Amino acid sequence: MATQEDDDDEINPFTTVLNDQDHHEQQPNSLTTVHDGAPEQQSYSLRSIESTVVIRQLPSEGLSFQLWPAATALISLLDSYRSSPSTSPLSAAFSGSQRQLRILELGSGTGIVGIVAAATLGGNVTITDLPHVVPNLQFNKDANKEVITSNGGAVTVAALRWGNVDDVAEIGRDFDVVLASDVVYHDHLYEPLLETLRFLLLGFEEEKEMKKKKKEKETVFVMAHLKRWKKESAFFKKAKKLFDVDVLHTCAPSDRARVGVVVYRFVPKGLIAPSEV
Ligand SMILES: C[S@@+](CC[C@H](N)C(=O)[O-])C[C@H]1O[C@@H](n2cnc3c(N)ncnc32)[C@H](O)[C@@H]1O
Repeated sequence: MATQEDDDDEINPFTTVLNDQDHHEQQPNSLTTVHDGAPEQQSYSLRSIESTVVIRQLPSEGLSFQLWPAATALISLLDSYRSSPSTSPLSAAFSGSQRQLRILELGSGTGIVGIVAAATLGGNVTITDLPHVVPNLQFNKDANKEVITSNGGAVTVAALRWGNVDDVAEIGRDFDVVLASDVVYHDHLYEPLLETLRFLLLGFEEEKEMKKKKKEKETVFVMAHLKRWKKESAFFKKAKKLFDVDVLHTCAPSDRARVGVVVYRFVPKGLIAPSEV
């Protein structure tokens, strides 16, 4: 993922990516390699539902097929939200919906965040990524069918290219929460990602009025992010012109990184009460 232009920046993403052994040492809910003849399969135990999620990583296929640190942080938070919603930093984003949460994940990679959201929240989750990533997402969804359905969740897999309005239109925009982890890295992707967020969160004026009339909550974007480069501030600067952005949670840095994963909430401007920010 590092390019020539990133060389002068401060943190190399590869050195901040933890392998399964590191996770095992650092976190009680650990990723462990399953030694059953399928070395790319890893399991993640979720305490809140006493279940295990299994995913396939294909590191040789590229960055979309690996688990990134912000995803791991978000999975832990989802697990603890399920155990104790009122004390969880995610309660600001997830509470208030009377029905099954409808969640869209952008840049899902292995799909584990969306799969864990479906299993822990009983949510109806659409996991998405670039078209060539979809088969692995489908594989991971199928591998977790039992844990998803037995916890009242549902997962749909779809291709969604950032900046492509037709992809979003096909999937629909009727979501309570948009989730993402580690999606701010290449600067040429900032604008397409923001374009998709603009379309998902702000939509059209008439739709916003309709939601208000029906007393429906606005769509919220929850993003877990590990800062690697100074240039990322350009993404946040642009995002803040469209959304109110606040920090829900900051994780302690792992021993390989200088900073911890930060979980942000983005909402259409003016919706967060000043006391909440
Ligand atoms: C660093 S990886 C993070 C993957 C996963 N969210 C995680 O945290 O493990 C970034 C993800 O964004 C996806 N991505 C990059 N550009 C994209 C685009 N233009 N449209 C949709 N997804 C994109 C990649 O395929 C990849 O899965």
